Amino acid sequence: MVIKDLVERSIFKQSGYIAPEVTGAIKMDANENPISLQEPLKKKLMEEMGRIDLNRYPAAGAPELRDRFAQYYGVVKDMVMLGNGSDELIQTLCLTLKGKINGVLVPVPTFSMYKIIAVNTGNKVVEVPLDKNFDLDCDAIIGQIKANFPALVFLSYPNSPTGNLFSRDKIEAIIKKTPGIVVVDEAYASFSGQTLLPMLKKYDNLIFLKTLSKLGLASMRLGFLIGNRDIVAQLDKVRLPYNVNSLSQIAANFFLDYQDEFSSQVAEIIKRREELYLGLKEIAGIKLYPSQANFIFFSCAFDSNRIYNKLVAEGIIVKNLNIPPLMPNCMRVTVGNRKENEAFLRALKSVISK
Ligand SMILES: Cc1ncc(COP(=O)(O)O)c(C=O)c1O
Repeated sequence: MVIKDLVERSIFKQSGYIAPEVTGAIKMDANENPISLQEPLKKKLMEEMGRIDLNRYPAAGAPELRDRFAQYYGVVKDMVMLGNGSDELIQTLCLTLKGKINGVLVPVPTFSMYKIIAVNTGNKVVEVPLDKNFDLDCDAIIGQIKANFPALVFLSYPNSPTGNLFSRDKIEAIIKKTPGIVVVDEAYASFSGQTLLPMLKKYDNLIFLKTLSKLGLASMRLGFLIGNRDIVAQLDKVRLPYNVNSLSQIAANFFLDYQDEFSSQVAEIIKRREELYLGLKEIAGIKLYPSQANFIFFSCAFDSNRIYNKLVAEGIIVKNLNIPPLMPNCMRVTVGNRKENEAFLRALKSVISK
């Protein structure tokens, strides 16, 4: 058996998504929430989890939870679908919707999993570079839509890794021009305080992605999508029956029960983001980009590979995005708690000065 002969070439040649394994390091690479849940609340959650019937499957399709999220967003249940993180929902979208070219359009740079998942589900990927302000190049995107007819256009709002919000007018122009579906990924929307969700009333070719991963429950793998019920009905056929396990369902209900607690964590992260931004601003050789998310994107006047490796040696993991020509010597740092941000700034200054 020669595995190379059996695997799609597009899969074989990939290196795969790399998530560094770290023990004891300060993790500022994956845009998680740095705040631990207060002990009494954590205990309460654990007690609820302790009541799970381990021998039983979870509620298939999690109808009650769907209903709760639908109520939360003022939509009907049939417009909501839950997933094992929003990554799974991206996969379900790419498996279900193929269009004439089996294609997906993404602006670049953006969240790398759109492309990885699209390729691994047999889609062609059309990449359109962002403009110099990291906003959408609307004409180029519409040109590619007309030429290629992709079934899906992924737009992260705010965008990762750049942290900015694309302009609404451009997004709306793309929604109007595409014969396919625009997926607006609002993984970081809580940190921008902006959502395009009201557009659902105006357009029927829109899907919104949301996740609890950035809000304090990354370990629980709970994402959901909201959109036109005709699209959701098709996606629901492709979804695996028990895709959201019982622990995740309990955690998501808990999130809805304690929204105030999670919202106050978001407010705190936004404060820490502003402090981190000001701290980075003082460092010569760093070019900063304003962020509407829970991370900050910057480029360095130095070799970012060297900086990254030295930071790792100091026990700090950030995301090295040294990808020319789009992102030469660029990095992304997740907003940490006060101590983590201070440790990162201290280490970065010392690494640069050496
Ligand atoms: C824009 C964007 N969408 C989706 C995800 C994935 O979220 P989840 O943990 O729900 O799979 C991420 C994770 O980093 C992200 O940056």
